[in-house]
Amino acid sequence: MAKAAVLGYGTVGSGVVEVLDTNSAEVEASAGEKVEVKYILDLRDFPGDKHESQIVHDIEVILNDPEIDVICETMGGLEPAFTFEKRALEKGISVCTSNKELVAAHGPELVRIAKEHNCSYLFEASVGGGIPILRTLNTSLKHEKIDSITGILNGTTNYILTKMDREKIGFATVLKEAQNKGYAERKPEADIEGYDACRKTAILASLMSGQYVKYEDIETEGITKITQEDFAYARSLGMSIKLLGMIKKNNSGFFTMVSPFLIPSENPLAFVNDVFNAIVVHGNMLGSTMYYGKGAGKQATASAVVADLIDLVIHKGSHMDVNLTDSPADLSDNGSYVH
Ligand code: HSE
Repeated sequence: MAKAAVLGYGTVGSGVVEVLDTNSAEVEASAGEKVEVKYILDLRDFPGDKHESQIVHDIEVILNDPEIDVICETMGGLEPAFTFEKRALEKGISVCTSNKELVAAHGPELVRIAKEHNCSYLFEASVGGGIPILRTLNTSLKHEKIDSITGILNGTTNYILTKMDREKIGFATVLKEAQNKGYAERKPEADIEGYDACRKTAILASLMSGQYVKYEDIETEGITKITQEDFAYARSLGMSIKLLGMIKKNNSGFFTMVSPFLIPSENPLAFVNDVFNAIVVHGNMLGSTMYYGKGAGKQATASAVVADLIDLVIHKGSHMDVNLTDSPADLSDNGSYVH
């Protein structure tokens, strides 16, 4: 039996435990053995919770238990998540995470540490919520020359834009709704200013180019300036407004950007509404493929974490390469970087 620890019992962490409970037979069949959550790290107590007895408050309990095979970090934020992940990997414990902030900031370093200690660092849930996009890029599309990746990468802003367009409701009211539904980040600026989509774009750009693209270098604009007049104008042109993360190969390297775009209503991305995300990948042989699904929310995101957890159990004691290196991309001023 494989033993796991979940760090953070919030939306995603409790979702991971729920997926493992609900689909325990399927998880066992895919992993080749039962997977038990031995510990759940959280500062809070959860009296009456089904998993109350697994709650611990001290990371040392987990790191010093030789039985732990895998850690799922679902706390979010840079610290203490970074320190906890690093220490786990240095002990040879594989880690999977939904923490895009951390992956965008320190992913290459964490992958390197994992490699040095014969374990793995996976982060499927950090981009596109439940959509298996990173695994697809790392396996089925590995032989393709990828020309472009364009995506709706933030569920909260897509939810807000959809509602503003359909129901002509003001920005602030819709933002509150998204927060109540558990889609939005703790600090709403991360969503509405485009920072969250920017981090996900940086992760995709790094995987696509095989170089480390820093999120700080990506030209980013959010949706806070979009008004009902903009929607009326878009409609008059037969267009929709979507916040897109874009990575395109050009003659000098790549162009990257996060911004609201006017897109024709017949474009498949225009049909992506509410909290859904979609990512269009164009390969030189394959042409365009589109990956669509819930980009935020408890169960969908948790499902992606569990997919990683299963891979880590299967590959215990070895390193799974994810093509995230710390060789830096050389970005120029206009959002393009030299290959
Ligand atoms: N706040 C994020 C979103 C959560 O709305 O897409 C998933 O990364």
